[in-house]
Amino acid sequence: MLILSIRRVTMAADGFQFAFTPEVETSTAPLWEKVKQHVTPMEWRRQAPLIAEINRLKQAKNAVILAHNYMTPEIFHGVGDYVGDSLGLAKEAARSDAAVIIQAGVHFMAETSKILSPEKRVLIPDLRAGCSLASSITGADVRLIKQRYPGLPVVTYVNTSAEVKAETDICCTSANAVQVVEEAARLWGVDRVILIPDEFLARNVARQTDIKIIAWQGRCEVHERFNAADILELRAAYPDAEILAHPECPTDVIEASDFTGSTAAMTDYVAKRRPKRVVMITECSMASNVAADSPETQFIGPCNLCPHMKRITLENIYETLVHDRYEVTVDPAIADRARLAVQRMIDLPPPAVPARYDLVKARHHVDVELI
Ligand code: 13P
Ligand code: SF4
Repeated sequence: MLILSIRRVTMAADGFQFAFTPEVETSTAPLWEKVKQHVTPMEWRRQAPLIAEINRLKQAKNAVILAHNYMTPEIFHGVGDYVGDSLGLAKEAARSDAAVIIQAGVHFMAETSKILSPEKRVLIPDLRAGCSLASSITGADVRLIKQRYPGLPVVTYVNTSAEVKAETDICCTSANAVQVVEEAARLWGVDRVILIPDEFLARNVARQTDIKIIAWQGRCEVHERFNAADILELRAAYPDAEILAHPECPTDVIEASDFTGSTAAMTDYVAKRRPKRVVMITECSMASNVAADSPETQFIGPCNLCPHMKRITLENIYETLVHDRYEVTVDPAIADRARLAVQRMIDLPPPAVPARYDLVKARHHVDVELI
């Protein structure tokens, strides 16, 4: 009897549908109102029962879903218990008292959760959800960099492996990179800081501080594809649109935009300023998720898809809960060293105001030293 019922559920995730019952329709109706601009009724009849089932299983298993801002709207609004940027998700992983963390995001985020909560079971729905920045650098690379620049602090973007974090003095995210670089320079008593592996983040930070930056040539494959001509074209077509760009974008894109900040800072910008029209130069799901809470703002493309983030689906989140897979582990010796770097970042006060490009617009051609 038990075997039969498990099989029925498994088959559902493999392609058979749960019933879109009147109960499911009623319980998911408020959510439908939020996502209906981005999900067709046909998709919703398949997704809504899965959302209801995931939310039931989460409670039964004392699991929490941490969902990044780049998740699709049905995940972000439907099953995410905590949604946010990399900094917010890391803080929540440290805070959560759930037994199981399901990371609706990419592998480095799940590793960060495991580093901060070694006693919890951390699961990711697809182990192949990587990141071009994380795979651009290894722990051995960082050891060589430290030999080349003895005495300088190593600030590492959280978009890196646990092995790289273990070689790091202090981590940063796009929300706090300027603050972390300045804090590292102050603590080490130096005027140069190594900020790796995102070259564009490093270049964009260099424009906002007097600290000299030593950078690595890693790139986000999603944000590096935008260029300044895209922005000029958008300005000509939509002169009243406010253009927000993620700091992983090339510097000329940032220069042509109105604002730069982390995904959480972009969300906050729209919530507070309520622009009539906005363009988000970042991953595609970001605008869909913010649009659901900002009906008076018109969101205009373009956007690029992150193939790694898009590996996470409602179906594989459901399967993660049913099969208790795929567990993300970190060697305890590496985790202990990496935790120091992540915890130093978490212990900093929250960044006071999001980075505002217009405050530093005069600072052109601030160069970085490329390793
Ligand atoms: P934030 O959410 O920290 O802005 O990062 C964006 C990103 O690319 C995560 O993969
Ligand atoms: Fe990595 Fe870029 Fe995808 Fe973020 S958007 S996970 S930085 S490849």
